[in-house]
Amino acid sequence: MKIVILTGSPRKKGNSNYLAEQFAKGANDAGHEVFVFDCVKQKVGGCLACDFCGMNGPCSQKDDFTNILRPQLETADMIVLVSPIYYYGLSSQLKAVIDRFYALNGSMRNKKSALLVAMADTNNATASSAVDYYHALGRYLGWKNVGEVVGKGLWGKTDALGSPAANNAYELGKSL
Ligand SMILES: Cc1cc2nc3c(=O)[nH]c(=O)nc-3n(C[C@H](O)[C@H](O)[C@H](O)COP(=O)(O)O)c2cc1C
Repeated sequence: MKIVILTGSPRKKGNSNYLAEQFAKGANDAGHEVFVFDCVKQKVGGCLACDFCGMNGPCSQKDDFTNILRPQLETADMIVLVSPIYYYGLSSQLKAVIDRFYALNGSMRNKKSALLVAMADTNNATASSAVDYYHALGRYLGWKNVGEVVGKGLWGKTDALGSPAANNAYELGKSL
């Protein structure tokens, strides 16, 4: 499979990026091709709702979404959303990228998917809005969910190292 991983944390060597790294390692070990797009580092504007694309065409914004990510998404078999939990949801940088799916809505359908999130809280309920959102998005786009990893109790930048969540992320990638 060709797997596109969308990472949404500004902490370069932080927890969710570590989960993404472990997932990618597992997927590579299982023989899959991985492309990682850093939604924070790359320049991606929010959807302008100009409808220039008509939900299936060129986007009016010529940024890193259009120039770098779009061709990868069009040919991907699987999408992995990766984010810190920010105020009970996904990071705004990842959400901005998801909103840009609008220009290729049809091409985003029927892919496999996974969700990897990191949060400070140890209560699963804190991630429930993000997980529910991911499921709703997947239902709409006809995605086949292969799994979710919720890294709990991860506050410091390197807390994910050696955590059960990191191992779960690796195993999820390896199981594909
Ligand atoms: C703006 C902001 C909002 C946050 N909101 C939450 C929250 O609602 N619940 C929580 O458990 N942790 C929250 N955190 C903590 C992060 O989710 C936690 O540190 C996580 O491990 C960060 O992942 P990262 O290292 O991949 O950036 C927040 C952190 C920031 C900076």
